[in-house]
Amino acid sequence: MSSTNNILVVNSSARKTRSISRELSVLFTESFRAHKPCNITQRDVGMNPPSFITEDWIAAAFNSPEQRSAEQKSILQESDQLIDEVVRSDIIVLGAPMYNYSMPASLKAWFDLIARVGLTFSFDLSRGDYPIEPVLRDKKLVLLSSRGEFAFAPGGERAHLNGLDPALHACAHYLGVEQECVNSIVVEYEEFKDKRWLDSLEQARQQTRQLAYQMAGAAS
Ligand SMILES: Cc1cc2nc3c(=O)[nH]c(=O)nc-3n(C[C@H](O)[C@H](O)[C@H](O)COP(=O)(O)O)c2cc1C
Repeated sequence: MSSTNNILVVNSSARKTRSISRELSVLFTESFRAHKPCNITQRDVGMNPPSFITEDWIAAAFNSPEQRSAEQKSILQESDQLIDEVVRSDIIVLGAPMYNYSMPASLKAWFDLIARVGLTFSFDLSRGDYPIEPVLRDKKLVLLSSRGEFAFAPGGERAHLNGLDPALHACAHYLGVEQECVNSIVVEYEEFKDKRWLDSLEQARQQTRQLAYQMAGAAS
């Protein structure tokens, strides 16, 4: 970890107000900053969704950099900028609500633009059955999520419906994050607005403060 802490915050809630994942991302960065100076980059894909990849995008991404046309370079500019933000970060905070049992489309679009051969992963069939390897290293990921229903954790009654947490963990390597460096904090019961929700929310707030202090301390 570098002595300067660069935090990239990616929020994907479509709600500008009343968003719990946004509230937790603010709490994380404020708690971290209270303990240690840091540079914070905000990438709000919920308010400004990234482009979807296209056939032209894929052709440009898989063409070698020396052979790319001016148009192909231009097609990749948005992806270049988003990847640059990831490269410059030490900690990536993802505000990731559950939408239809998965991640918001805006966040998936962000991941699709981040996953770039030669920049965030390498592909080599000589590695056998696991040809993909990450390029980036040593970053930490903070997942801050909220969901309306409950019991999505392994062993829970809705675990089989959880298309969000496994997908986020699977994509972590594109960000240069090892599985043991993924920290996940979840609020459940949001649709019920009952005591179970209030308890879940309060617990998540405490966990978020604690994680921020711990990461700020560990980063010094
Ligand atoms: C479009 C949409 C789809 C949703 N789909 C689910 C879902 O599949 N499962 C669930 O438990 N909650 C679902 N919810 C509830 C959200 O996960 C919940 O409201 C959460 O707090 C949203 O995050 P935010 O507060 O940061 O905006 C959905 C909400 C919206 C707006």
